[in-house]
Amino acid sequence: MVHPFIKWVGGKTQLLNDLRKYYPFSHYNNIYKYAEPFVGGGAVLFDILNSFELQEIYISDANSDLINTYQIIRDRPNDIITILQNLQDDYWNIALDKRGYYYSNIRDQYNNLRILNKDNDFLKKAAFFIFLNKTCFNGLYRVNKHGDFNVAIGNYDFPIICEKENILNVSTKLQKIEIVNGDYYSCRSFVDENTFVYLDPPYVPLSSISNTISYTTKHFGYQEQLRLADFFMELNFTGAKLLMSNSNPKNSNEYNDFLEVIYDGFDIKNVTATRSINSNTYRRGRVGELLISNYSLDNI
Ligand SMILES: C[S@@+](CC[C@H](N)C(=O)[O-])C[C@H]1O[C@@H](n2cnc3c(N)ncnc32)[C@H](O)[C@@H]1O
Repeated sequence: MVHPFIKWVGGKTQLLNDLRKYYPFSHYNNIYKYAEPFVGGGAVLFDILNSFELQEIYISDANSDLINTYQIIRDRPNDIITILQNLQDDYWNIALDKRGYYYSNIRDQYNNLRILNKDNDFLKKAAFFIFLNKTCFNGLYRVNKHGDFNVAIGNYDFPIICEKENILNVSTKLQKIEIVNGDYYSCRSFVDENTFVYLDPPYVPLSSISNTISYTTKHFGYQEQLRLADFFMELNFTGAKLLMSNSNPKNSNEYNDFLEVIYDGFDIKNVTATRSINSNTYRRGRVGELLISNYSLDNI
């Protein structure tokens, strides 16, 4: 069994019980490929890997450091485990009130590794990425406009930085998976009538003042949601089975039917999820989420 090797804002672990009901594999016997173009922490990917044997799998994300980490875990699990174990040993041995310096030092090293040339650069970047995720405030990932990770240290006594068993198991599961850094559109050539595509884009902003979380330096706003709806339409013509989760804009304005309008004609279902509801205060709460699909969610 495998689980996400990082926490990720918008991670779907809380929603798995709802989503699982709608996986099409057992209902359509021609579906044996899987694509997840906004993979993030991979809650759904790992859930599917735990339950189904599929022939071909494709994952991508626009966050290059995240994708580098997936690739390093796939290709060099033992090397990353060695570095993570050392980081964990160091960190645990430092008194709580003295950890800020160590954390900032790793964060600087991480940000200074901008152009990755040597094999070791990719490895270090991936290890620091996991270290920062496990020790920063709430496991947030946020970059400024220069692309520098700028989340402050979190408050954990003994954070598990090196999950050795899980990394080894994840590595085994990732062996035959195509792992791509880039825009979701790149999955187009992989997708055909035998594919299940799960799309979990950055959310429609909950309010005009709350920005979406900056997973990358590029903002995913309303224009991007429109481009994605066109892509959904394009994928629909391939015969693939498509499932998308997105925040319900009605959370902030009961009259906002933006998603209902742009996905008119597709199956839309309301579910609720626990997640951060405000990127400035990190408040968490139950919010409405929409599932959108091109197959009937009621008859599955
Ligand atoms: C809501 S999160 C996905 C969370 C994931 N389902 C999980 O369980 O962790 C959205 C992801 O989309 C990625 N992203 C943003 N813009 C993108 C784009 N144009 N193409 C592909 N991925 C993108 C972000 O880096 C982020 O990881």
